[in-house]
Amino acid sequence: MAFVDALGRPLRDLRISVTDRCNFRCTYCMPREVFGPDYQFLQRTELLTYEEIGRLARIFVEHGVEKIRLTGGEPLVRRDLHQLIALLRETPGLKDLTLTTNGSLLRAQAQRLRDAGLQRITVSLDSLDEAIFKSMNDVGVPPSVVLDGIEAARAAGLAPIKVNAVVKRGVNDDTIVDLARHFKGTGIIVRFIEFMDVGATNGWQMRHVVPAHEIVARINAELPIEPAEPNYRGEVARRWRYRDGSGEIGLITSITEPFCGDCTRARLSPEGELYTCLFGNRGHDFRSLLRDGASDDEISTFLGSVWRVRNDRYSEIRSEHTAGLRKVEMSHIGG
Ligand code: GTP
Ligand code: 5AD
Ligand code: SF4
Ligand code: SF4
Repeated sequence: MAFVDALGRPLRDLRISVTDRCNFRCTYCMPREVFGPDYQFLQRTELLTYEEIGRLARIFVEHGVEKIRLTGGEPLVRRDLHQLIALLRETPGLKDLTLTTNGSLLRAQAQRLRDAGLQRITVSLDSLDEAIFKSMNDVGVPPSVVLDGIEAARAAGLAPIKVNAVVKRGVNDDTIVDLARHFKGTGIIVRFIEFMDVGATNGWQMRHVVPAHEIVARINAELPIEPAEPNYRGEVARRWRYRDGSGEIGLITSITEPFCGDCTRARLSPEGELYTCLFGNRGHDFRSLLRDGASDDEISTFLGSVWRVRNDRYSEIRSEHTAGLRKVEMSHIGG
């Protein structure tokens, strides 16, 4: 039986963050001043084990989840992630299993992820300009490393491949057309994401946001595009296709055109807390249930009690005031 929330939205997607660690320090996500050498990441015993994740996934799928996305932090820094893929792959009723990565470790892992049963993949890449990309990830990784990862994913047969680019005014906005042009005609779908006020450490301000309509106009001026229909109700990205038939791009418009009305997403943190919104300030503790010996029925009942009262619609009620509230960090919950 599928659970439906207080605003009539079914539970359909589960995003599982497998670690709060990352080998990048993107300035808009894990600024070095906050995530420095003294930062207390979760300890290994605090993380859900793969068996615990697999059990929760099975119960969530029984209640409506069709798609699972693994995130982090950076999911590929968690040891033997392919083993989790292999385990989740066996979940009866799961239709879509995918992963979002920064791509830096993908070259080494693409084939074994594919062999374990991963179907497709999304890779973050904010700019092809070497200096700009290095300063955005703040660990000096050049775009060529990520491009190599993408190539390895393609060679391994992961498809479709999507590329996520966060757009920040004055930082990488002058390089978005190049990014679109690079992937045009390759079958790889680039999605441009409006910089969001996730967490409380990234110094978000409205003036850093490049509205989606401006991104569209800038691309359209050089590479003509037209709107395309959504693939399914509740799709996060708005689709635009090239008029010459050479593929499509996506716009993720959480700031200028919120999409909470169709939001069917639940997010599980590395230590087993369930968040019903990306902008939540507290999660619901599933790890205690798991470790206190709860039955599947008890876990289902708890999930139902959380989902049925859910009324989150943060992006729709966002204001300069809400931007400063205490919120879970993106690197903890995985976007
Ligand atoms: P597909 O299944 O490939 O269409 O992917 P997706 O769009 O669901 O997933 P992806 O992780 O690639 O999402 C892209 C980005 O959109 C995320 O990293 C977030 O930045 C943003 N995003 C995804 N879901 C939500 C959401 O529920 N609310 C908000 N505000 N942003 C979201
Ligand atoms: N706003 C928008 N997107 C963000 N991401 C991380 N932080 C933010 C933010 N503040 C993106 C990452 C990655 C995805 C998981 O979310 O770049 O593509
Ligand atoms: Fe790491 Fe992704 Fe956050 Fe960058 S955006 S610091 S790659 S988790
Ligand atoms: Fe869903 Fe919250 Fe994002 Fe709205 S802001 S789309 S409710 S996760």
